[in-house]
Amino acid sequence: MENGLIEAAKSYIEELFKGNSGGHDAAHSLRVFRNAALIAGSEKDCDITVVYLAALLHDADDHKLFNTENNENARGFLESHGVCGETEERIVNAINSVSFSKNRGRKPDTIEGMIVQDADRLDAIGAVGIARTFAYGGEHGRSLEASIGHFYEKLLLLKDEMNTDRAKELADSRHAFMVDYLKEYFAETGE
Ligand code: NI
Repeated sequence: MENGLIEAAKSYIEELFKGNSGGHDAAHSLRVFRNAALIAGSEKDCDITVVYLAALLHDADDHKLFNTENNENARGFLESHGVCGETEERIVNAINSVSFSKNRGRKPDTIEGMIVQDADRLDAIGAVGIARTFAYGGEHGRSLEASIGHFYEKLLLLKDEMNTDRAKELADSRHAFMVDYLKEYFAETGE
């Protein structure tokens, strides 16, 4: 695989997410990339180029941030770096299988999609997940109680929705940390 391409994708997302903070920024995409690399290390039959690029670009057309159609940003980056045809379609397909709301209950149909979806979900739980939840809540004027509710509506469900064995392992300790955190939160608030 071409390292230059991965570095170019990192620079591209740094630029693209400039000015965003909290949940969806370049740092999130870099963590998802890191998680995806960890998981991919345990999956021998995956296309690592597709995994890496889909992980880095998975939020490049997030509808909460960008008003693009048909993965315009991701496709623009890929095509301008000579990634076209079948590889481009496989990357876009993996990206489109990541969204939680769009894919509730549906598994991605490729191993690359499964890995990137797991990698994104891992970043929503554990210590990072807690930090992102309150950052997002603050941005949207939510009370702490409302953010705590988000753990029960979504975050505590994610451990059992992981596709790959490696992600299940990684999710276990992150999940346990959130459970401990909530215990402490309710002990302190007396709720
Ligand atoms: Ni994401």
